[in-house]
Amino acid sequence: MPADRPARGDSPEIAAEALKTGRLVILPTETVYGLAADASNPQAVARIFEAKGRPRFNPLIAHVANAVDAEAIAVFDAKARALAEAFWPGPLTIVAPVRDRERVCDLARAGLDSVAVRVPGHPRARAVIGAFGGPVVAPSANRSGRPSPTTFGDALEETGQAVGAAVDGGPCAVGVESTVVSVLDGQVALLRPGSVTREEIEAVAGPLAEGGQGRRSPGRLALHYAPDAPVRIEADGARDGEILLGFGAGVGDPRWSLSPSGDLREAAANLFRLLREADRSKPSGIAVSPIPTKGLGEAINDRLRRAAGFVG
Ligand code: TXA
Ligand code: MG
Repeated sequence: MPADRPARGDSPEIAAEALKTGRLVILPTETVYGLAADASNPQAVARIFEAKGRPRFNPLIAHVANAVDAEAIAVFDAKARALAEAFWPGPLTIVAPVRDRERVCDLARAGLDSVAVRVPGHPRARAVIGAFGGPVVAPSANRSGRPSPTTFGDALEETGQAVGAAVDGGPCAVGVESTVVSVLDGQVALLRPGSVTREEIEAVAGPLAEGGQGRRSPGRLALHYAPDAPVRIEADGARDGEILLGFGAGVGDPRWSLSPSGDLREAAANLFRLLREADRSKPSGIAVSPIPTKGLGEAINDRLRRAAGFVG
């Protein structure tokens, strides 16, 4: 990072220029901070994998300005269109057959015949994509296996040394990554739970195909989103040396509460930031209170099980 960078980060225009010259950009979105590159430039995309230290080439999400631009790179059927109409701009990613193999290069798709697309809701993400004028691929800006950054400072700490520009969008309102669904052969499957819930998707697209989650989403490692300290989930209290991330009234120290009022949205928004903050004080472990599994709770529990190393 240049030493003369303004404290509040670079403008969307400067970020767009960096993307055009094949450099990486810290991109704020409503879910988590992304590490962005020009989707059509394989050298730039390769830099993302290098900066994150990804063990293998997982497919990336192409971020575009609107549904028309999405359909320029992906083939949408009626269900995909209905989902886009209902949830974009916003935290839903749609995996569909690829239409344009150049604008989202092979490396960005990990050689698949499908492409993941989303229209982010964050105004600064939209400003960068608009100024750049094409699809931008962006995984979360963390180094591989670590919690996703949800503040500008955390994003800089993770991958700031690898970028040509960094845009500050403030703390991420949602706090967990987008929901990923595939819409292939007329079937809608949930590949990664996120802030758009299963129930909300089924209300628009009908019943989800069984057994979708994890199967066709190659990027889902068992130990993921993990801080350095061991994470113990569904804990009813802190053991010696542990920090307890509580949920609900009167559970643990309010400073470490995911949501004192037991609100799932608030808990999602606080999750990765508190995991990181707890980790910084080098506890013997991080205990987390039980979180209800309904609605947004599915995504929170998914990330926690991975942080604890439980999910295959
Ligand atoms: O909220 C988000 O989605 C954030 C922000 C920055 O937009 N991005 C993000 O990207 O979480 P990443 O790379 O960490 O996660 C992308 C997920 C992975 O699980 C990957 O396997 C899946 O999307 N994915 C991407 N393309 C796919 C494809 N063609 N088929 C199946 N899964 C795909
Ligand atoms: Mg990620």
